Amino acid sequence: MRKRIVAGNWKMNCDLSETDYLLSRLLEQDLDPKVEVIVTPPFVNLYTAFNLLKTSSIEVAAQNMHFESNGAYTGEVSAQMLKSVGVQTVILGHSERRAYFGEDNALLAKKVSAALGNEMTTIFCFGEELEDRKAGNHFNLVKQQLQEGLFHISEKDWSHIVLAYEPVWAIGTGETATPDQAQEMHQFIRETIAEAYSTDIAEGVSILYGGSVKPNNAAEIFGKPDVDGGLIGGASLDAGNFAQIVNAFQ
Ligand code: PGA
Repeated sequence: MRKRIVAGNWKMNCDLSETDYLLSRLLEQDLDPKVEVIVTPPFVNLYTAFNLLKTSSIEVAAQNMHFESNGAYTGEVSAQMLKSVGVQTVILGHSERRAYFGEDNALLAKKVSAALGNEMTTIFCFGEELEDRKAGNHFNLVKQQLQEGLFHISEKDWSHIVLAYEPVWAIGTGETATPDQAQEMHQFIRETIAEAYSTDIAEGVSILYGGSVKPNNAAEIFGKPDVDGGLIGGASLDAGNFAQIVNAFQ
């Protein structure tokens, strides 16, 4: 079922005391109860975050995970490990994972399967680079990312999927897609899913927009019919700004 979701992607920010501080401030905010609110501290602070937020409705998610459950994968964290500290949701395919850590669609497909196999929800990120958009190739590129990274899943798996369209040129740059550009792509994403699966699945999945969403532009972006919320980077590191974004739905 389509939901309104605002997820904060903390990236590699906030040590233990900063995590404690940011979450304590967030707990003081009035958040729209109709919006599912998610925070994603770095791995080492997930357990602390889970305990701090246990009695609130704010959910804790991870920013990444490995596809194997355990073994000789130095430096990696598995779905089971995340679940053992209370984490039920994971971001996969963020553009920084793709660009700096060589994560390609084939690897992401395995990670998605591992998350689903562990009954975790995946926030699956994808989006084109500036060159793709300039060349008019952005729709093809997005379709390919979905086909190769996600479309191996079954119809029933879609209840564990949230999509996050993040044009790479808008991430951390202060440059957002216009609300119309976001709407145009989100609509295309639903059409692509409808072709591959069904209209019901396409209409049921929540599609978040990400890339320089701030308190001053969130309402207009979230106001578009196919935009169900946002994946927020920089602005999620300030509790007041993040709360304003959560509360930006009309
Ligand atoms: P930004 O990041 O809001 O800082 O642009 C978004 C993201 O990377 O998810």
